[in-house]
Amino acid sequence: MSILDTIRKRRSVRTFDGVPLKQEDAQKIIEFAEKVEDPYDIPISWKILDAKKYGLSSPVIVGTDCYIAGKMHRVPHAEEAFGYAFEKIVLFAEGLGVGTTWIAGTMNRDAFEKAMDLSEEEVMPCVSPLGYPASRMSLRENLMRKGIKADTRNEFEELFFDGSFGKPLSRDAAGKLADVLEAVRFAPSAVNMQPWRAVLSGNSVHFYEKHSRGYDDGRWDTQKIDMGIALCHFEVAAMELGIPVSFTISDPGLATAKDIEYIASFEILE
Ligand SMILES: Cc1cc2nc3c(=O)[nH]c(=O)nc-3n(C[C@H](O)[C@H](O)[C@H](O)COP(=O)(O)O)c2cc1C
Repeated sequence: MSILDTIRKRRSVRTFDGVPLKQEDAQKIIEFAEKVEDPYDIPISWKILDAKKYGLSSPVIVGTDCYIAGKMHRVPHAEEAFGYAFEKIVLFAEGLGVGTTWIAGTMNRDAFEKAMDLSEEEVMPCVSPLGYPASRMSLRENLMRKGIKADTRNEFEELFFDGSFGKPLSRDAAGKLADVLEAVRFAPSAVNMQPWRAVLSGNSVHFYEKHSRGYDDGRWDTQKIDMGIALCHFEVAAMELGIPVSFTISDPGLATAKDIEYIASFEILE
């Protein structure tokens, strides 16, 4: 399956069919995870965890006892790096037919952190269950999806801009980047808040975070994980469509509203 199809097809899976994760799938996922690089070059270590062994649970997940978690040092840009790298793993798992859900909140975090041997300097941003999707979602999963409108995304013109934040970007004006930006639009985000905004300016696409209240405690900003996911989708979609891009952090100094923060850019190389 193409990466664009994988991105379109992926959804959070919270109801699994009870079949244990096949050893060969676990092996492929951990081997892939260990090789994933992120544009910030921040090392992350990954573990596949047996929920029964460590007493791990999530009130929203049923039908699997297998999770993957990652930990890293709490350094600048840790959130974006984690978002980028974990989403690569999520898309890889999806390609194998293995369901996932990004989980930052709804888990017994202490047990997960213990299972990961987390030190004082480290952070374990998110975990995900791994398993095979059940043919029907649980009632709870259905209600949850409705509650956060998980099946919808903001319109293209609300997220992407042409030269400045004052001018929405149409799909037509985005030209060959339209499908790449569409892949960003479909990305998962915490509570489906979709904080990513992007401005196409000359040969660059500048990514910004639109802060919502309650995600940034001054030490950690969960919406920067969402930004990393958006950067991942942009890069993998561009690669698949044969558009060479290069990652940079170089704030173009565009005028922005107070709640909008520059994150990173991609330069289009052709
Ligand atoms: C950083 C992050 C944290 C999340 N944390 C949780 C969580 O704690 N519990 C949960 O059920 N879903 C969580 N989600 C899943 C989102 O609710 C979900 O991705 C979003 O509603 C869009 O739905 P979809 O993934 O099915 O497209 C999280 C997603 C992200 C990206």
